[in-house]
Amino acid sequence: MSLLKVTIDNIEVEVEPGTTILNAARKIGGSVVPPAMCYYSKLEGSGGYCRSCLVKISQSSAKDTRPMPKLVPSCRTAVQDGMVVLNTTSPEVMENRRAITEFLLLNHPLDCPVCDQAGECHLQDLSYEHGLEETNTIEERRTFEPIDIGELIKLNMNRCILCYRCVKVADQLTDKRVHGVLNRGDHSEISTYILNAVDNDFSGNMIDVCPVGALTDRTFRFKSRVWFTKPMDAHRDCNTCSGKTVVWLKGEEILRVTGRKDTYGELEEFICNECRFHKKKVSDWVIEGPRNIKRNSVISQNHYQNLKPTGDEPQKPE
Ligand code: SF4
Ligand code: FES
Repeated sequence: MSLLKVTIDNIEVEVEPGTTILNAARKIGGSVVPPAMCYYSKLEGSGGYCRSCLVKISQSSAKDTRPMPKLVPSCRTAVQDGMVVLNTTSPEVMENRRAITEFLLLNHPLDCPVCDQAGECHLQDLSYEHGLEETNTIEERRTFEPIDIGELIKLNMNRCILCYRCVKVADQLTDKRVHGVLNRGDHSEISTYILNAVDNDFSGNMIDVCPVGALTDRTFRFKSRVWFTKPMDAHRDCNTCSGKTVVWLKGEEILRVTGRKDTYGELEEFICNECRFHKKKVSDWVIEGPRNIKRNSVISQNHYQNLKPTGDEPQKPE
């Protein structure tokens, strides 16, 4: 199978047919990669909802050198041979990304100071890079009371950006999905048909895939700011999942257990609820060593002076 050549922000890369622009950009890495608030590499059919990954195509292919008339979602558009894509090099894309960020924040409360996701929230990162200092809206945000959608998961719908990742987790990891998006348009909301209905072995992964703080771990809520904890790779023998996790320590106490995430903040593997919620003693785990958090995040500050650079660190201005 011959590879396709695509140029993104003036950098050429070769990829297999069928590869999306987003994944071609990820092959290059660094600032060429568009943000993705709804696409998730481990979830089939994800992407196409948030529009944070829109890019400009200045040349459709080697055969058809015309530009595409509108920006396209890079997570859903396959590359063509000879395609030329503009991401950060296009003022139109950057302007659009600012508008999308504002749109995603339309109903999102600015409650980072009290939100458990602060420090590892993808919307916080997006707002930091592309957000406005002041809102243009005066309308009231829609509000919901936080609810428990399972014994161990809290849903704060105010923060949800309707990325559908949690729905895809439920669809793809469990036999009987009991939650989803109810209603239409700006009345849409994530919910269960029956309060407290989510109780399958892998439901906790919804917390890890949620890009914002809409789904949080009830065993960890308000215990600590995440940057005061030390993430360590750990494993245990588990009959349900691989048992490979990250344990977040404060002193000798494990405050929470999560799956291991890659450079893009996406889980390497899904883990089971037993590992996530019920193994909170250090003696339950074989601790492997400090987790190198590859995302630009306050979590990776200060803890890892001795680790090698990953290449994804922010570049200092010349
Ligand atoms: S709850 Fe989180 S994962 Fe689910 S749709 Fe909302 S933002 Fe996405
Ligand atoms: S990541 Fe492409 S539309 Fe959301």
